[in-house]
Amino acid sequence: MIKTDIVIIGSGIGALSAASKLCRYNKKITVITKAMRKTCNSSLAQGGISVALSEEDNYKLHYEDTMKAGCYLNDSDAVMTLVKNAPDAINELIAEGMEFDRDENGKLCFGREGAHRLSRVVHAGGDRTGLKVIEQLLKEINENVEINENEMALDLRIKDGVCAGVTTRDKNGKIKKYSAPYTILATGGIGQLYPCTSNDVTITGDGIAMAYRAGCRLKNLEFVQFHPTMLDVNGNAAGLISEAVRGAGGVLVNDKGERFMKDFLPFKDLSPRDVVSREVYARYLKGEKIYLDITAVDNFKQRFPSITEICLSNGIDIDKKLIPVIPGAHFHMGGVEASVKGNTNIDGLYAVGEVSCTGVHGANRLASNSLLEGIVFGRLLADNILSSNRKSVEFDEQISKLTPNKMPTKREIQNKMMEFVGIVRYENKIDEAVKWFEQFSADKAFGRIDISAVSNDQLEIYNMLTTGWLIAKAAEERKESVGAHYIVK
Ligand code: SIN
Repeated sequence: MIKTDIVIIGSGIGALSAASKLCRYNKKITVITKAMRKTCNSSLAQGGISVALSEEDNYKLHYEDTMKAGCYLNDSDAVMTLVKNAPDAINELIAEGMEFDRDENGKLCFGREGAHRLSRVVHAGGDRTGLKVIEQLLKEINENVEINENEMALDLRIKDGVCAGVTTRDKNGKIKKYSAPYTILATGGIGQLYPCTSNDVTITGDGIAMAYRAGCRLKNLEFVQFHPTMLDVNGNAAGLISEAVRGAGGVLVNDKGERFMKDFLPFKDLSPRDVVSREVYARYLKGEKIYLDITAVDNFKQRFPSITEICLSNGIDIDKKLIPVIPGAHFHMGGVEASVKGNTNIDGLYAVGEVSCTGVHGANRLASNSLLEGIVFGRLLADNILSSNRKSVEFDEQISKLTPNKMPTKREIQNKMMEFVGIVRYENKIDEAVKWFEQFSADKAFGRIDISAVSNDQLEIYNMLTTGWLIAKAAEERKESVGAHYIVK
C-alpha cells in the first residue's frame, strides 16, 4: 500500500492547477498519468483562455455569453463563480511567470472565438496556449509532487460510499494500490470514443467509467461538443484548426467556393460550435469538400505556428490558403457531478476539469472556457482540500470475479458512437446503440471486472464501452434537441 496525502489521476490543467497550489502547503501529492506528463488535451488546446480583462469587457458580459452558448441549461452559480474569478486567476498566473501574447505596447492581445460578442481570449505562443500553461504549471510544482508517468488508473478504491485511493498498473505491469484521504479525478474527456477527434489518443473516457463503477452520480452525459474544423486528411482528423483562425478572418467554403455560413446571423462563421458543426457535417455527408479559406488572415504562419506545423506535416500547403476540414468530437460538457470546489457524492473523491460536470457549460461550452475552468476550479478545489481535515480509511478489498465478454475493436466503438450518438441523433435509433453496447457486458450493466485479468488496452476498451453505453442511455432519455444534443424525430 502506498500512502500519500492526495492522489491525482491525470496531469492536465485542472490537475496541475490544484497540485501547484496544494504543494505549497507541504502536502504529499502523487500524480498518476497514463502517458507522459505533458500528454493531455490541455497541452493540445490552441485557442486560449476567455477572460473579461479588456477595457470594453466585464464579467457580466462573459457570464451572458457563457449562458447563451450553453442554452441556459448551465448552472448559473457555477458560471458566475467561473467568470468572476477569471480575471484574478489569470492575473495570478501572469504574476507567477506565465507569458501571454501582447501587442507592441505591451498590452494583452485578445482573440475572437465562436459565440463571444467581443474579443476576449488571451493566448500564448500564438496557438500554443494550452502547452504554455501546462509548462508554466509544471514549473510551479515543487518536490512535494511526484509524477508517475506511464501508469494507468484501473479502479477507484471504494467502500461504503467512501473513496480510499486508487489501484493502478505501472509501466512494468505491476499493480499498485494508493491510499489517500483525497483522490482527485482529472482524467479529461471522451474524445477517443469517436472516429474523428481533436483529443489525445489517451482520452478514452476512463474517468467516467471508473466513477460509474464507484457509484458516482453522473450528469449531462448526452452533451458532446463537436468542433467543426479538424484538419481533414482522407476523412480522418489530423489535428485541430482553431476557431481563432475564423476569429482572425478565416471563412468556411465548399468546393465551389461558396461561403455557406454567411447567412447564419449574427455570428456567421463564428456561430456556436453545434450550429457550425451540423452544417459542415450535413454538407460533408452530401459529398461536399469543406475548406477553411485563410486568404484574409494576416501573418498566418506567425500567428498560428502549431497549425502551420500540423498542416505541413500532413502535406497541406498553407500558401494555397485553403485548409480541408472535417468536424470531430472535441469536448464533453457532461461528466461526474461535482461542485465548483470538486466535491462529488462520494466522500474523499473529487473531480475537476473535463471529467467533471459542474453544470458550468450547460448544453454547449463557450469557446475557451475549458482551460479557464481547469485553472479556476482547480484552485478552488485546492482551497477546499486545504480547509478540510480528512483521514485516510483502510479496508480489505473484494476482488470482482467478473470478466468481460468478447470485446469489439476501438474503431468499431467509435463508428457506432458516430452513427448513433454523434453530431445528429435519430430518435428511433438510439436504443439500437444502447443494445449494441449491452451485448459486450456480462452483467448488462458494465460492473466492476477483475482488473488483474485484463490488459491496460482491454480495460481502455471496457471503459470506452461503459462510457459509450452511458452516453447513449443519457441521449435516449433527453427527448428534445438542445445545444449539442440534436435529435431528429
Ligand atoms: C479552438 O481553439 O478552436 C478550441 C478552443 C476551445 O475549445 O475552447
